Parts: sequence; structure tokens; C-alpha cells
Amino acid sequence: NQPNVVVIGSINMDMVTKSNRFPKKGETITGQSFHQLPGGKGANQAVAVARLGAKVTMVGAVGDDSTGQAMIKKLNEEQIDTSYVQILKKNTTGMAQITVSEQDNQIIIVPGANHALTREHIDAAKEVIQSADIVVLQLEIPLDIVEYAAELASAVGGKVILNPAPAPSAPLSKKLLQNISYVTPNETELAEMTGQTNVELGMNELLLNESVPTVIVTLGSEGVGFKQKEDLLTRYVKGQHVEVLDTTGAGDTFNGALSYCLAQGIELAQSIEFANAAAGLSVTKFGAQSGMPTLTEVKETMANQK
Ligand code: RIB
Ligand code: NA
Repeated sequence: NQPNVVVIGSINMDMVTKSNRFPKKGETITGQSFHQLPGGKGANQAVAVARLGAKVTMVGAVGDDSTGQAMIKKLNEEQIDTSYVQILKKNTTGMAQITVSEQDNQIIIVPGANHALTREHIDAAKEVIQSADIVVLQLEIPLDIVEYAAELASAVGGKVILNPAPAPSAPLSKKLLQNISYVTPNETELAEMTGQTNVELGMNELLLNESVPTVIVTLGSEGVGFKQKEDLLTRYVKGQHVEVLDTTGAGDTFNGALSYCLAQGIELAQSIEFANAAAGLSVTKFGAQSGMPTLTEVKETMANQK
């Protein structure tokens, strides 16, 4: 039976410029290409889960503009339920200005409607949130809304994944972390959340002081490290050897694929291996969502690695 996943988070239009390098301060340079692509961490994670075949409901907001309409249409084309995507009259649709260079990317976000989400908007989706197999959250909507949504889900014993991205500027509240089952930072985010630049110490901080049951740290091309409160043993899954074209959305693919597995009760190490393979596939294509794989594609890749 089909896993049922609810993603609560941001919806952005990505304005992506490809450039050999970043401009220096005050400098004008010529780029290689420009594309407008659907993005936003919430929407990306929703698309990643939907491509794998789960039933997905997106909770979020866009502005009352043509970009918002286009973003909703894109989600619908991925079979995502958008009944709880609000269209807000006084706001513009979220926008991400992304520069992709050969080594890295840089992003400026203008949140618009994403930051106008309210508790009432979350309450409207209460039933679906509380009946989901798993709820997925990130940090591109107001923090108090993330806290509220996690509280609603965990009040009925629901599983909650928090992808603490983009990196929070201060440690997250106990109130939030106590309602999270899985937290999935990258190294930078882990350091911001815990004040620890050492990955082991950072993980311990979340497991022991904040009582999050499972911490999963994505380490880019190095793979993934994870640790659970029950045995405090760090395990690793190796990174994929792939040709990297664009890493935008790799973390989102990882979180989407992870939630797809965990929603079905698949064992943790196996879920992480699957998510790692999915993320590896996603970076081989340009744009956040275009490289997100189907279930068959992930299975084939994993079979070839055996
Ligand atoms: O994680 C990638 C996403 O972050 C992009 O799609 C962009 O919209 C930013 O929110
Ligand atoms: Na990509």
C-alpha cells in the first residue's frame, strides 16, 4: 500500500544563472545560461517523494501571481495534492536567486508568501497532518509554524523528519526538537544548531541533550553519518561516485527519499542507503527537481552497485 507523506514547507521559483565563477564585489561578469525552474525546499522534497510513488500532500503558500499559479501547476503535474497550498493575496510567490558555478552554488531567497504562513493554515490541514505516515519539515517557513506543525503531528504519535535547512542562525528550541523523530542536518547546519564543529560531538548534543531519537548528517560526496539514541553507535553510508552537474536539491532529494522509506517502516540503515542513492542520481541533472529519480531508477542504481 502507498505510503502517505505530508510535506509542510516552502515553494519557490528558482531563477538559476549558470556562471563559470562568482562575480567579485562590485564586478560584472557574463554568465552562461539562465533558467526559471520550480524549487523551494518544501516543494522539492514533496516532488522527490511523489516521483518515488508515495501519496503526497503539500502544505504551504504562494502569492496571488502567475508564478504561484505555475508552481501549483507543477506540483499537480507530479500528482501532489495542493488543496492545502494557500494562495495569499498580499504576498508574492517565494523566489530563489541561484548562481551555479563549476565548484559551488550561491542562493539568495526572498520568502514572500512562505513567510506569511499562519497557524490557521496549518490547522486547515490538521487531519491530513495527523493521519500521515510521516510529516516532513524544513526551515524556509516561519520557525513558530514549524514548531506548531511538529507539535500537531507528534501529539498523535506521528513520525516527523526535520531537515534543518537553510542553517538556523541560533540553536533550535527544545519545544521543537522534542517533537522530532529524525533530524537531518548537513555539517554546517549541525554546527549552527549545536555550536559543535565536530560532527560526533554535534550528533551527541542532539541525541543526549535534546533527546532527538535519530540524527542523520549528510556529508556531501563523503556520504552520510547517522546515530541513534538507543545505541550511540555512529554508522556511515559511503557517498556515490557520480558526475556532478548541479548539487541544488540534492539534500531535498535525500530527505524526500528518506521519508518515502521511513513512512513504510523500512529499517533505518536501508532507508539511508536508498536516500543516498536517490540524492546521487539527482546531482547528475541541472535544476533542483529535474534529476529527482523514480523508484525504478533508484532500484537499478542500487542493483548495479551490488
Ligand atoms: O534546496 C534547494 C532549494 O533551496 C532551491 O530550490 C531554492 O528554492 C532554495 O529554497
Ligand atoms: Na539536480
